[in-house]
Amino acid sequence: MATSILVQLAMVALAAVILPCHSADPDPLQDYCVADLTLNLTINGYPCKDYYAATIDDFVFSLATPANTSNAYGADSFPGIVQTFPGLNTLGFAILRLDFAVGGLIPPHTHPLASELVYVEEGSLYAGFVTQDNRLFAKILNKGDVLVIPRALIHWQLNVGDTPAKAIATLNSQQNPGAQLIASSMFGSGIRDDVLAKTFFLDESIVRQLKSQFS
Ligand SMILES: *[C@@H]1O[C@H](CO)[C@@H](O)[C@H](O)[C@H]1NC(C)=O
Ligand SMILES: *[C@@H]1O[C@H](CO)[C@@H](O)[C@H](O)[C@H]1NC(C)=O
Repeated sequence: MATSILVQLAMVALAAVILPCHSADPDPLQDYCVADLTLNLTINGYPCKDYYAATIDDFVFSLATPANTSNAYGADSFPGIVQTFPGLNTLGFAILRLDFAVGGLIPPHTHPLASELVYVEEGSLYAGFVTQDNRLFAKILNKGDVLVIPRALIHWQLNVGDTPAKAIATLNSQQNPGAQLIASSMFGSGIRDDVLAKTFFLDESIVRQLKSQFS
C-alpha cells in the first residue's frame, strides 16, 4: 500500500516536471507586492512599493460606482486591475464590474492571458464564447448564474432583459489579462481595405463604411 502511494507520488512529481502546471501569472515570491505605479517598469509585474509602507487601503477597492453605459455599446466595465488596484500586483487575479443599459453589449473580445468568471448580479445576459474550432457555447444567464470563459476565447455579454444589468467578472491575471476587441481590432486599426474586403468577402466600399464606425 505504502509502496503504491509512493509510486503515485512519484508519478505526480514526474507529471509535474513533464507537464508543468501554469497559472496565468507566475507565483509571487513575497506575501504581497503593492504596485508602485510611478516607476514605469514592468518585469512580470510592477515593482513593489516599500513593504512596510503598505496599508489596508492598498488591499481594498470599491466597485460601488457603476461603469458609464452612455456609449455606443450601452455597456462598459469598471476595472479592478493592477493599474487601479495596486494591491493586486503579482497575486494573479483581477475583478471588474460590468454594467449594461437595456440592450447594452460588451462586444466580442478576448483576454489573451486570462480565463474569466462572470457572475450575474442583476438582470439577464445572453453570453457565451466560441472555441478555436468555431463551436459556440452560449445561453441566457440569469441573476445568480456564473459563466466561466476559458482563457483567450472570444466572448461577449448582451443585456436581453428589460432592466439594466450588472455583473461581476474576475480574471486569473491581474497584471495583464489583456483585452482585444474583435471589431475595433479589425476595422479600427488601419488594416488595408483590400485585406478586410477579402477576409470578410465584402466590397471595399462596405469595408470603408465599417471602418468609419471605428475612426
Ligand atoms: C514615468 O513616465 C512618465 C511619462 O512618460 C514620466 O513623466 C515620468 O517621469 C516617469 N517616471 C519615472 C520615475 O521615470
Ligand atoms: C458618461 O459618459 C458620457 C459620454 O461620454 C458623458 O457625457 C457623461 O458625463 C458620463 N457620465 C458620468 C456620470 O460620468
